[in-house]
Parts: sequence; C-alpha cells; structure tokens
Amino acid sequence: MANLGYPFTLGVASGEPLPDGVVIWTRLAPEPLGRDPARPGGMPDRIVPVGWQVAEDEGFRRIVRQGTARADRRWAHSVHVRVDGLNPGSDYFYRFSVGAPFAATTSPAGRTRTAPAAGAVTPVRFAFVSCQRYEHGHFTALRHLADERPDAVLQLGDYVYEYGRPAAPGPGRYVRRLEAPEEECRTLQQYRNRYARYRTDPDLQAAHRAAPWIATWDDHEVRDNYRGALPGDGSDPAAFRRRRAAAYQAYYEHLPLRVRPSASGLQMHRWRPYGRAADFLVLDVRQHRTAASMLGGAQEEWLLARLAGSAARWKVLVQPLFFSRRFVPGPPPNLRADAWDGYPEFRRRVTGAGVRGLVVVSGDVHNAWAGELRADFADPASPPAGVEFVGSSVTSMPPATDSAAVLAANPHLRFFDGRRGYVVCTAGVDGFHAAYRAVDFVDRPGSPVRTAAGFAVRDDRLVPDAV
Ligand SMILES: [Fe+2]
Repeated sequence: MANLGYPFTLGVASGEPLPDGVVIWTRLAPEPLGRDPARPGGMPDRIVPVGWQVAEDEGFRRIVRQGTARADRRWAHSVHVRVDGLNPGSDYFYRFSVGAPFAATTSPAGRTRTAPAAGAVTPVRFAFVSCQRYEHGHFTALRHLADERPDAVLQLGDYVYEYGRPAAPGPGRYVRRLEAPEEECRTLQQYRNRYARYRTDPDLQAAHRAAPWIATWDDHEVRDNYRGALPGDGSDPAAFRRRRAAAYQAYYEHLPLRVRPSASGLQMHRWRPYGRAADFLVLDVRQHRTAASMLGGAQEEWLLARLAGSAARWKVLVQPLFFSRRFVPGPPPNLRADAWDGYPEFRRRVTGAGVRGLVVVSGDVHNAWAGELRADFADPASPPAGVEFVGSSVTSMPPATDSAAVLAANPHLRFFDGRRGYVVCTAGVDGFHAAYRAVDFVDRPGSPVRTAAGFAVRDDRLVPDAV
C-alpha cells in the first residue's frame, strides 16, 4: 500500500480533567487541507487502530495506562480516549502511535494534569482565552500561555471563525491566508478544513500540548449571532439545522470533549470541580437560547442549583459573553442585546442569589476588562456580588471602543486594556488572583508578552494586586 504520509499534522490535545482522568485527543490527517469530501484529512475509508500511552514521566518510562482506540471516518478519524484510573492533582504525559503505511508511527507527547481530589485545598492555576481569528494574526499569545504550563486552559468561544475571505479586508484584518478556497463554512467538509487550518498552527498546537483544555463555544463555531436552532438572519431554519449539526460535529472532532454530538445536539454545559478551591460551571449560551432565555430553562435551573449547592471557595462561571451591565454612551442601542444585558432578569437571579465567591470569566468583545458584579446593576448602592474578568482576544481585531466613556458610565467596571492576550488566574481557598497578559502585536510572529495588570478578589470586590 502507498505511504499515507505523516498522520499527526493536527497535533495532540487533552481536556475535561477530572480527579481520576482526562480525555486525550488526536486526529489522523496526513492531508489536513485535502478537499476530497470522501477522504477527510486524506484518510482512506477504513477504521485505523491508534495506540495510546499515558505515563508519569516525559520519557515514557513509567507508563500507567495504555490501549488501542479506533479512528473511524465517521468522525474524521479523530480519537477521543477517556483515560481513567489516574491520580488526582497530578501531571501526566500522553502520546499516540499508528502502524504502516504511515510515514511516522509516534505522535508528539502532550502534558496533561488531573483535577485535585474532592476535599483537596490545592489551588488551581488556570488561563483563559477566547476569539482566535486565524486570518487576523499570529497566535503568539497562545505560545506564551503554553510556556506558563497552567493546570488547565479555559477556552471561552470563537475557537474558529466561519467567515470566508472578505472582499476588501481592512488594515490588520487579513494577515494570514485561510484554507483554499477561502469560503464561508457551511458544510461538514468546510468546517473540518477550517479546524484543520487552525490546528496546523504551531502556537495553537503548543498550547494544547501544554495543558488540558476545558472549552465552550460562542457563535462563530457555527454562524455569527445564531440563536438556538435559528440562524439569526431569517434564512431557512431547516437548512440552518443541518449546518449547525455539521458545525457541532466538526467542533467535537477537533476538541478533547467527553461527549459526542447526537441528533438533538451536543451537551456543553457541565461542572468541573477542582477540590475545595473552585467549581467551574461551564455554560452554553447559544444552543438552547430563546427570545426569553440565554441558557434555556433546563440549563438555568441546573446553574442555580449548582451555585446553591457548591461548597467550593470560588464558583467560576465559564462562558463567552460580557456578564456585567455595560452601558455604552451615545446613540442607542446603549446596551447590547446579544450579551447578558439582553437577559437582565436571569442575570439578577444569579447575582442576587447571595453566592459567596462568584467569579465570571468571559470574552467576546476582543478587549480586556475587569469589574465587579452588582446584585442590581441599576442601583449604584447595590452590594457587590462577585467579580468579572473579561479576557481580550487571542488575535481577533476589536471594534472601536471609547473605553474612557464606558468606564465613566459604568462605575462597577474598573479596568480596560486594548491589546490582544490572555488571562492567568490562581484560585485557592485563601484567595483569587488574576493577571492580564498582553502581546504588543499579532500581525507578525514573535511579540514579547507583558503583564498589563493584576487583581485580587477581596470580599466580592476587586483590588489591585502586585504582579
Ligand atoms: Fe470573537
């Protein structure tokens, strides 16, 4: 049989850490941008056995788990192995192997880490990122994030953008080429190749190799501003349901998720406990959205019950959208209907529930912000109800923002930074700290990284922190 080429062009990844296990991922794609829909990734239509190993050491001398998975064309020859039986709060290394007729047999190794045991007081050090638009720039921020080797990486949506090449790109808005033919994604093959384009990026691969990821999506994994089963632009709902199903499948095929999509969708909202330090409550703000509810009734009830039942010091809402009130002075609309300002009743149920240690992490707006939550944002005397850290984009260009006017009109917001970057946080039983990292440029590789600001949380308020 002819040599099939190098199979691990998309790297390796891990995710969904629990105290006793993680998911490890790869996808065989010797031709990652191949355009034959019958051979996704340039793979033949057969099941390929993929060996996997998990070791305690980087040299794979102390292997603790191993096995063989089946890579099937049905899932674009992606492999998601649920590894269990691991020790809590521990580093592990993993890799994959294939036999002939591939040109190489062993993948690069990734480093992962399990969550701490249920009663553990170990702090968790995590980073969060969002909005990595490939054509807007280089993923240098992810390279610096990888160097920090956090315990986990939270991805808050816009992992890919569905857009094709714009007819007349503005300055800084087309510095890297998408995969040919540079069209907007609508079909499974197009979404697969868009993920493959992103995943061939060495900085993104490094960030996946460095730590387990816990991801949730926003809109651009499918289509700009879609809501639930509706496209958001009035076009044919039946065609959009097929498009959404294709997009969800490609998302699953390229991320280390525990759960597969079914005919009805893909469950994204979930709870990831980190001992007594933090509960991560991962939200899905798109799939179940209606005109009346951002999350849909079932997810709303789940979240309120989880918040009420959490014994962890910090309850971290992991979700894409600006949560605090953000009044933008000038001509209306002054509040954005697509963010939580469009759903103030449920937001008040969260901020008014008396939750101690509520921390919201978010993205979407392509600039960095930080602020305090209020039980009632309309009342300046309302008590603080937690904090929000809004991370900047990895590369996506921001809209023009009069940040001074927004900060003046929203006294609960305390910080703005207009550079691209990410945020790294430490959540422990005795404190929460966040450091904003920023890169100087993304239109070419090699930017240094700087710390833009640091904050701690004290009595549900934001205080400056030495960095
Ligand atoms: Fe975005």
